[in-house]
Amino acid sequence: MAKLLVTGGAGFIGANFVRYWRRQHPSDAVIVLDALTYAGNRANLDGLDGVDFVHADIRDEARVCDLLRSGVDTLVHFAAESHVDRSIHGPDAFIDTNVVGTHSLLKAARKVWLDEGAGRPHRFHHVSTDEVYGSLGPADPAFHEATPYAPNSPYSASKAASDHLVRAYHHTYGLQVTTTNCSNNYGPYQFPEKLIPLFLINALHGRPLPIYGDGMNVRDWLYVEDHCRGIELVLAGGRIGETYNIGGGEELPNMVVIDTLCAAVDAAFAADPDLARRFPDAPAAAGRASASLKTYVTDRPGHDRRYAIDETKIRGELGYRAAHGFEQRFAETLAWYLANEPWWRAVMDGSYKSWVERNYATR
Ligand code: NAD
Ligand code: TYD
Repeated sequence: MAKLLVTGGAGFIGANFVRYWRRQHPSDAVIVLDALTYAGNRANLDGLDGVDFVHADIRDEARVCDLLRSGVDTLVHFAAESHVDRSIHGPDAFIDTNVVGTHSLLKAARKVWLDEGAGRPHRFHHVSTDEVYGSLGPADPAFHEATPYAPNSPYSASKAASDHLVRAYHHTYGLQVTTTNCSNNYGPYQFPEKLIPLFLINALHGRPLPIYGDGMNVRDWLYVEDHCRGIELVLAGGRIGETYNIGGGEELPNMVVIDTLCAAVDAAFAADPDLARRFPDAPAAAGRASASLKTYVTDRPGHDRRYAIDETKIRGELGYRAAHGFEQRFAETLAWYLANEPWWRAVMDGSYKSWVERNYATR
């Protein structure tokens, strides 16, 4: 039996990971440590048993040490400030949490596992992003683990710094680390500031779908459960000190994602007349195309053009591959958001609304 400490386990990917882990490894103990920022939500863990929740900041080194001393052998580190647009408007929190916070966790792990624990079996798994590699041209080869780092946003720069610190704690002190760099996730519980949930909810309310630039930026879309399985494979069989890229195998221009989303919303309204009653402001409620909401807005500063993942290493070494394609997983995601309206209404209240009003006159 393992004992996991999952940082950021009340956020989007962390909560999906905890749910996945409880299903796959029911005899393991799980502690979630989360500061519950605007992106963290205790309700993301509702209905789970066998999970201890600790409301704390990853920079509280003494608290993390105490938790590690309670028999934790595996730390899975998701906690971060994660939204590129926020990092452009206010980079400080990204340095505080992603750089200083990750370093604080590393110091705690070193103290408890190496200094006090005489090197007892342990694993520090760091969850990072493909954005550390920068931006690709249309014909460039996909990112692989040896692609030089070239982060372009304060978010990706802060994640790059954290990756380097994790690597350094392995090489310098012998901490048993692994790192995964994944592409754009989507699925249940994603905070509605990222492309897919934001556009879904805007389409339901008849609000503009704000497309940055020409809408032809390319992302590799990874269903969150595939990501969780990739991390599980790395925890089980990944080589210590190594990094693994995880992708969804679905390189799509934003416009294709947006058109898929609009068509799926239209089809859902056509199939279920109750949706028109629930969301009367949606164009689809009046039989009009959701695509009529598409609105081109000023591009994001420094907007990376293309991300793509070469997953040869994790496929070859650990047998990873995404289970299903984008169309199926997107349909499941849409169904989840339609079935969980109280969840997204609750998380979009309060601080999120005022942040959007301050920063996005167009929304
Ligand atoms: P998220 O923003 O949904 O959740 C982040 C969680 O971390 C929240 O629960 C928040 O409360 C918590 N948190 C933030 N600061 C904290 C602090 N100082 N102490 C403790 N908890 C804190 O993020 P996500 O989308 O779930 O991303 C999880 C991880 O995956 C991040 O490290 C992110 O960089 C990485 N990642 C995400 C994506 C993606 O598409 N979402 C892609 C690649 C990598
Ligand atoms: P996002 O979900 O913010 O993820 P990331 O910036 O980490 O890739 O954005 C995905 C893509 O969608 C990215 O190219 C920016 C674009 N985008 C828009 O066009 N409009 C929006 O309102 C948002 C949030 C994103």
